[in-house]
Amino acid sequence: MTTRREFLIGAGAGLVALGAGKSWSHPPSRWGSSGSSGQYQLELPFAVSTWSHGLAANEAAWTTLQSGRTALDAVETGVRVSEADPEVTSVGCGGHPDRDGHVTLDACIMDQGGNAGSVAFLEGIEHAISVARLVMEKTPHVMLVGEGAREFALANGFPVKDLLTPAAQKSWRKWRETADYQAWPQAADPDPGHDTISMLAVDGFGDMCGACTTSGLPYKMHGRVGDSPIIGAAMFVDNAVGGACATGVGEEVMKTLGSFLIVELMRQGLSPAEACHEAIARIVRRNPRWKDVQVGYLAADKQGRCSAYSIQPGFQFAVMDQTGNRLLDAQSWIRPAAKAQE
Ligand code: GLY
Repeated sequence: MTTRREFLIGAGAGLVALGAGKSWSHPPSRWGSSGSSGQYQLELPFAVSTWSHGLAANEAAWTTLQSGRTALDAVETGVRVSEADPEVTSVGCGGHPDRDGHVTLDACIMDQGGNAGSVAFLEGIEHAISVARLVMEKTPHVMLVGEGAREFALANGFPVKDLLTPAAQKSWRKWRETADYQAWPQAADPDPGHDTISMLAVDGFGDMCGACTTSGLPYKMHGRVGDSPIIGAAMFVDNAVGGACATGVGEEVMKTLGSFLIVELMRQGLSPAEACHEAIARIVRRNPRWKDVQVGYLAADKQGRCSAYSIQPGFQFAVMDQTGNRLLDAQSWIRPAAKAQE
């Protein structure tokens, strides 16, 4: 087992150490085949998640893991932090509304047994991830949408909440002045803390589970559902192999079923770094407008190897194991220097 001090980082990837006095070594990746992708070795158990709001989510997941509970409890508890945070403007309460002013949520969850639950186009219920978990555990189905998902949530005691915060309403009103719907460029905004949270965790039993929750693209068409509730698109876990999850423009993730692809590539022997790189390459190869799109993937295998890769620079991910909680910069298809010259 690799020790914490052997925490590995691939060539060119950046690391932000949180907490005064903390530092980590940066030897070359043991696994990066091309040197083009950063890969990290985590100790088990661990929690990893997308964007800077993943740090707070990881903390909650970690507390759950430390109390001896399961990875399923950990990922649910973790992403609920983002769902409840009004400052996180693309998840749960505080999420950007659609073009008609409705905050509609998508979420999915998967356990170590390959069971899955999801909700889509859910309105007025803050913790979409917990509704998704109940769909998995209490129904014979995988997905509930819209009014049916809401009725199911209400029947199971979830409180109704107005998720449109004053700040999100103000932004939406300003957007309506022009109503310029540029889904891709908006989604390509690399501003951290403003996108889907996806999380993977391995617990003390060695089991991996995953979760994903979002309010989706800002000012999307009413009724639009993204990748986040689609099992295999935004998130997929195979407890024999590992897991992967996504953030960014959901349409591109759905068309390539990226998370399933990454897990299958890992099953065939690719490292998480190589698998994430290939999933991004599939989007770049098939979409002539790829330069306008941001998609980021985060993957980890059951041995604790973890990596992330995106199209645009700026995608960050948070990793937590017994040695700490760190925010890392993913490597990207478009290099930061090239972006700066645009
Ligand atoms: N990835 C979130 C969405 O496209 O809705």
